[in-house]
Order: sequence, then structure tokens, then C-alpha cells
Amino acid sequence: MAELVPVEPFDIVIFGATGDLARRKLVPALFHRWCDGQIPENSRIVAAARDELSTADYIKRAGEMVLTGGASAERRDAWARFTQHLTYCAVDATADGKGWGELKAALDPDPKKIRLFYLALPPSIYGSVCDAIGEHGLNTPRSRIVLEKPIGHDFHSARQVNEAVGRVFPENAIFRIDHYLGKETVQNLLILRFANMLLEPVWNSGGIDHVQITVAESLGAGKRASYYDRAGALRDMVQNHLLQLLCLVAMEPPASLEADAVRAEKLKVLRALRRIDSKSVNKAVVRGQYEAGVSDRESVEGYAEEVGEATDTETFVAIRGEIDNWRWAGVPFYLRTGKRMRSRRSEIIIQFKPVPHDIIQADAGALQPNRLVIRLQPDEGVKLMLMTKDPGPGGVRLRYVPLNLSFADEFEKDYPDAYERLLMAVVRGNLGLFMRRDEVETAWRWTDGIIAAWHDGDCPVHLYPAGTDGPTQASLLLGRDDREWFDADTA
Ligand code: BG6
Repeated sequence: MAELVPVEPFDIVIFGATGDLARRKLVPALFHRWCDGQIPENSRIVAAARDELSTADYIKRAGEMVLTGGASAERRDAWARFTQHLTYCAVDATADGKGWGELKAALDPDPKKIRLFYLALPPSIYGSVCDAIGEHGLNTPRSRIVLEKPIGHDFHSARQVNEAVGRVFPENAIFRIDHYLGKETVQNLLILRFANMLLEPVWNSGGIDHVQITVAESLGAGKRASYYDRAGALRDMVQNHLLQLLCLVAMEPPASLEADAVRAEKLKVLRALRRIDSKSVNKAVVRGQYEAGVSDRESVEGYAEEVGEATDTETFVAIRGEIDNWRWAGVPFYLRTGKRMRSRRSEIIIQFKPVPHDIIQADAGALQPNRLVIRLQPDEGVKLMLMTKDPGPGGVRLRYVPLNLSFADEFEKDYPDAYERLLMAVVRGNLGLFMRRDEVETAWRWTDGIIAAWHDGDCPVHLYPAGTDGPTQASLLLGRDDREWFDADTA
């Protein structure tokens, strides 16, 4: 088992500390890393938000997320010791600077200590919070800023955010989160591709027929509907998570795993993505929205009922993407993501080409091309489908069987949540797990093209019952190419 290496002592300020992300993900992530001994004792956590709360009140609220159900006495004791590092500060991050003096006093004045500012806030105020950090002299030479997605809602707003943040922090101190990059199985993509000789020679249009990337969720938009209704699946999931996955699958081998070497290769993929415009949009994109149905065995409302009015926000999107470069010419990348789908699963499927010449007799059964299934969540694993001979007498009978690597069986350990890994990566200064400014802006340019085409063209939002694989039009997207989506059972 890999040894757990503690990070350097650090101070972290979480802006937006009373919000969902901070309570559900960030504070628990820090707690778990501390429990594992990765966070040194002289580190400090400052939770900052507008509400007038005492530190004790905040600890009580945050504890509800950590000490759920029948938390053991040991865990309660650990929480009590962990929270000795935690202070709450009421700070008005946007206005007249109220609370900044207290915030400064809560931080270690040593300029050599690593200092993190985590903005779990709406992106529209990233710029003003950064200005305030600068004006109040909180920005030290070893400070880093962490930005949650979404970075803007289109190319122009993303550029404004990046410029505003860039006035206070240099690019190498800016950590833009895409939490998919913190997932164990997503990190493994680079290893799978570049630490094995076997795949790379066929990893191109000569060997690969097409690629499918699916990120399906069974949950609905739920409490986040006010944000989600302004975003939709394209902005919420494709612009960031799905395009990052696509980049990791399609990029050229970087010269090293050094952050900028990897980011430069990802950027080339984003730049080579064929633009989808009003002429191509109807053949390349399907939008959907869930209506009432049965999800996880419960009857659920449709999206419009949840929002309380008719809306054309897409809760599902499927895209036929193409990458215009030498390696991928003619290989479609089918992307799909949606809420309230049949099950929660994220996977990447690489469908190889058939063998060039079939020498097996016709009655032996169908010869099927190899398929690599990379299962990101849940049941993380990698499966390679191969043709074999069904053992036994009576001539050749073909069987399509999996060579299966299940992470749960092979590694027998739980992995840290993506946020745990990402927070420790920020402290270490490992920018490789974060998006560079040009990646984010280029990804927006591509998705903006689709949104503009939706406005210009006649692009209906097709309804699909909650608990299904999305609208039937998504099947036609592949059907037109004589292909079909593979799902967990057929893959
Ligand atoms: C977030 C989106 O970035 O990712 C959410 O804003 C989505 O809408 C979530 O539910 C999915 O993340 P995960 O890790 O549960 O697959």
C-alpha cells in the first residue's frame, strides 16, 4: 500500500462556509485527511461566511454532516480534536469589508506558511472577493486560490472571472477545480494509457471505431434547481467534466506528467474539437428533459414540476463530437449525460474496429470487435472484451468474454473522495489536477457554439421519463451511424 505522506502545514480559508459544498464536501474532506494523519497539527481552518455565527455554532452545524447516524465514540472524539483547528469568522466578502480584520487575525502571520483561499461562492463575486483579499493584505507569497466550477457561464464571463482573479493571483497560484480530475479512476486514465505499451499503437483512427463517454445520474436537480435552471446539463456537466474526460482519452502522450505538459496536450484536443453550429446541431446534439417517472423505485416529479414552471432547460444532453486532427479523423466521440437516468454510472467505452479479415467459419458465432470499458463510478474497474473459443469438442464456437479488473476485488481499499485528494494537491502545489485558464476558456468557446446554435435553430427539448436512458432521439444519434449506446449490461 502506498505510504501516506503528510503535507506541509497550511492555513485554509473557506469562503461560503455555510453553503452546501463546504459542509457536505470540504469540511468532511479536511476531517478525513486529518484523521489519516496527512494534515499537520499546526494547520488552521477558517470557515468564513456572512452569517453571524459563533465558532461553536458552526462546528455543531458542520458536525451534522460528519457525525451522521451512529457515529462511533472514537469518531466523535476525533471530530472534537479536529475542530480545535477550526475557527468561524463572519465576513462580508462582497461589501464594505466587514469581518476582514477578524479573518486576518485568525490566520498565521508567518508569510512562509502555505495559505489557501477556497471560494465556494458564486463565480460572479470571485473577482470582488479576490480584490478584497488583496486590499486587506491577506495575499502572501505562498497563497493559493481555489475556484469552484462553474468558472462563468460562457466564454466572456469566464474571461472576466479569470482576469479579475488574475489581477490578484498569478496563474500558478490559481487552482480551478473540476472534481472529476480528483477521482481515482480518472487519474488512472493517464496511467492506463501511458504506462502500458499495449494500447497506444491502436489508440487512433486505425484501431478505434468510436468512443462513448457516459455520465449518468439517477438523482434529479433537486434543491439546486435555481442554479441548475440557469445552467442545464451542457454547462453543468459537459463544459467541464465530460470534456476533461474526452481530453484524457484523446490527448497525445505528454513528455512528462508535469502539470503544464499535460495541460498543453489537453488544450490541443479542445482546440481541435469540431465546432457545432446551427447547420450541424440537429444531427450532432440531442437535448432532453425528464418528466415524471420512477427513479430508484420511487415515483418522482418531472423537472418542470420541480422548478414550478415550464422551462426548456436540458437535464440531458447527448453529443456526437469529432476531433479534427490526424489521430482521430473520422472517429466519433459520443458524449451523454443526464439527471434522473436509469442508474448512476460514469463510464468510458472504447469500441475497437473489427479484425480486417474474418477467417472463422460462419456457423461459429458472431465475431465481435474488442471493447474496452473503463468504469469510473460506481464499481470502478476496467474490462476488456475479447473473442475466445468456447472450450470443448465439436468445432469452433466463439465467445465474447471479459478480461475483468475490478478495483474493489483487486485493491481492497476505499479511496479518498475526490475533494480530499484535490485539497491535498492544492497544498502540494500540484496544478496537474486543475484546469488552466486557456482550457476553461476554450471549452466554453465550444459549448457556447452549441448554445448559440440552439438559439438560432429549431432544437426541441425532448421529454424522457425519469428513470430511463434519456429520450429515444439519443439512440437515433448513434442509430444514424449504425451504432448503439452500450449500457452497463450490454457493455
Ligand atoms: C457537479 C454538478 O459538478 O457534478 C452536479 O454540478 C452533478 O450537477 C455532480 O450532480 C456529479 O458529480 P459526481 O461526483 O456525483 O459524479
